[in-house]
Amino acid sequence: MEHTTEHGSLGERAARVLDRNWTGTSTVPSRTLYPHQWSWDSAFIAIGLRHVAPLRAQTELETLLAAQWGDGRVPHIVFNPAVPSDAYFPGPAFWRSATAGRGAGAPAGVQTSGIVQPPVHALAAWLVHRADPRLSRARGFLSRVYPALAAWHRYLLHRRDLGGGGLVSVVHPWEQGMDNSPCWDAPLARVSPAPARAFRRRDLEHGAAGDRPTDLDYGRYVRLAADYRDGGYADGPCGRREFAVEDPSFNALLAASEHALAHIARELGAAGTARHARAERLTAALVERLWDPEAEMFFCRDLRASDSLDPRGPDGSRALVTEYGVSGLIPLILPALPREVAAALVRTARGPRFGLGGGVRLAPSYDLRGPAFDPHRYWRGPAWFNTNWLLERGLRLHGERAQAARLRAALLDVAAATDFAEYVDPYTGEGCGARGFGWTAALTLDLLDPAGPQAGAPPRDDTEHETEETGAGAR
Ligand code: SER
Repeated sequence: MEHTTEHGSLGERAARVLDRNWTGTSTVPSRTLYPHQWSWDSAFIAIGLRHVAPLRAQTELETLLAAQWGDGRVPHIVFNPAVPSDAYFPGPAFWRSATAGRGAGAPAGVQTSGIVQPPVHALAAWLVHRADPRLSRARGFLSRVYPALAAWHRYLLHRRDLGGGGLVSVVHPWEQGMDNSPCWDAPLARVSPAPARAFRRRDLEHGAAGDRPTDLDYGRYVRLAADYRDGGYADGPCGRREFAVEDPSFNALLAASEHALAHIARELGAAGTARHARAERLTAALVERLWDPEAEMFFCRDLRASDSLDPRGPDGSRALVTEYGVSGLIPLILPALPREVAAALVRTARGPRFGLGGGVRLAPSYDLRGPAFDPHRYWRGPAWFNTNWLLERGLRLHGERAQAARLRAALLDVAAATDFAEYVDPYTGEGCGARGFGWTAALTLDLLDPAGPQAGAPPRDDTEHETEETGAGAR
């Protein structure tokens, strides 16, 4: 096919990246920039690995979940003790999970960070199971991961609903995963940065400074993380937090994962109805709290801005951060999204801010017309493969098949041309950040074979495939 070169097919090249990044129990996002296990990276990596190494895909998720805390949180980094302690900042000596996290139930045998990342894991577990159900059943994969995934969702829904409106809040930009998105500029402006002399960045030894967050951003990241740690990683009411934001992408991924947990429960012989209903409540809360019908976009809600608003007055949209980050398009993955909301989101994705109707190779991480747009700086404009992979699914789910097919073709071309770059210039497709990046390679494998290996299974039509994978049947 068109993606075959003298170095092998695109799928073979992607599989080689995952082989090189495999440590024996999990996969690093990048050998240089991110030499440990990252939570949402592992979920996306498992989704790709399932096509070439289902056992490794299962192990990837099991390794991550083995580092789960007693309160249910799944940490955003699981540190590899074989990697030198100064290879990444902030490392284990900063987070001090075993001591500072003791009250929250941090595990004793492994060192982790104390914040979380988006809950893509149940979705990944379900897709991994479906790639090789025989192996999965033989190993009891789903019955082993289900309680951990259920506890993870419970933690988010019960301990992190800081706004009381049925959505989860993130307490650090690293939790949402789009670290320096302009969506965080206003909420972060209240945080006094840790002094530059208090820490040493390691990322700049592996990535160009112009592709990475600024020193001022880092000062604020360090301050927020240190304060959370010094409070024993306790999740209190929002009033005590410097930073608490309800984010559309984080909550949409939780809802999609609740649908997946419903499928897992049913596979294990239990009823999934309550979980589908919870996913639909999350979808409704997203629309109620974060949807702006005039802007045709989901926005973040800054809970600290809400604090200063008169609770008796029309609180409303003043707490919404009206920056167009790609996060606001991700709810398109949800099957229970009202039709008019889905149609409006597709218009926004195809319009001049995200350019999918023409003008870009891949959807940018931030508004092409926004004042803070920068085509190379991490989450302030570059296009990322995970968000575009989610958009491709969302477009397909809502019947936009031609647009989804164009996006899929562009993702494969750009991944091939950039040696699986971490992110790219959305206009030119020029690679930025790390190369040989884990989720870029993994999601390439998934796009090459979206139905997954169905050895021995009878052919299924596409509608059934989508219903099974996304929960559309719960509508
Ligand atoms: N994305 C962050 C980093 O750049 C950490 O999760 O290190």
